[in-house]
Amino acid sequence: MLKKLQHVAVIMDGNGRWAQLRGKPRTYGHVKGARIAKKIITHAADLKLKNLTLYAFSSENWFRPEGEVSFLMLLLGRYLKKESQNLHKKNIRFDVIGEVNKLPDNIQKAIHQTRELTKNNTGLHLAFAISYGSRQEIVLAAQALAEKVKNGELKVDQITEKSISDNLMTAGTPDPDLIIRTSGESRLSNFLMWQASYSELYFSPVLWPDYSVKDFNEAIQYYLGRERRFGKVFQKNEESFV
Ligand code: FPP
Repeated sequence: MLKKLQHVAVIMDGNGRWAQLRGKPRTYGHVKGARIAKKIITHAADLKLKNLTLYAFSSENWFRPEGEVSFLMLLLGRYLKKESQNLHKKNIRFDVIGEVNKLPDNIQKAIHQTRELTKNNTGLHLAFAISYGSRQEIVLAAQALAEKVKNGELKVDQITEKSISDNLMTAGTPDPDLIIRTSGESRLSNFLMWQASYSELYFSPVLWPDYSVKDFNEAIQYYLGRERRFGKVFQKNEESFV
């Protein structure tokens, strides 16, 4: 069904504000946010979407108060432990983009185990962006390419858009067709900036803990009604949905 929509990426924003509006600690918003992430993942798998990338923890999030950072890590660890079998049963291939080596050892281990368990699955490719920053990703790709030039494995004029894409953490995954950000903010915030060159951007006013399957469907419907020209003359996306 979703032929023209291969990859949706989501900036799940607004957990803190949602909790504060209810007089609760920000961590309460993250707990609810994790439940919503689970719902959207299941829905995306049911829709037979090929790729879903969720921004779960940015490189900048390390600068949040220590208590909030460790809570987010705890939540992530708990999620992986609880959900890896479910992901596997749903034929989901779990993946992570980001500087995984900066994460606590137990999280690195849980990521490794879930990746291994699900690596041959053929359904939804689910990537969590954790300790991820687009600028850092581009810096690492530039360093990897420079290293190859230095070793004589690559010529300078072989540095192309493709070779840069192939050295990003998203190598092998098509660029996102649609990027959704919740909570009324309209920024990319260091998320998939190279990959977003031709993405449709969809900003929802809904805070992530209130986000629903209906909101997600609306974003997809919006995308399917857009014209994508990639700088050229191009046809309208004509696919119908649900
Ligand atoms: C943004 O809300 C959200 C995050 C920094 C983390 C996203 C994490 C989750 C949805 C939970 C973890 C997910 C899983 C699947 C374990 P914010 O805190 O920036 O909200 P604010 O903008 O209102 O302050």
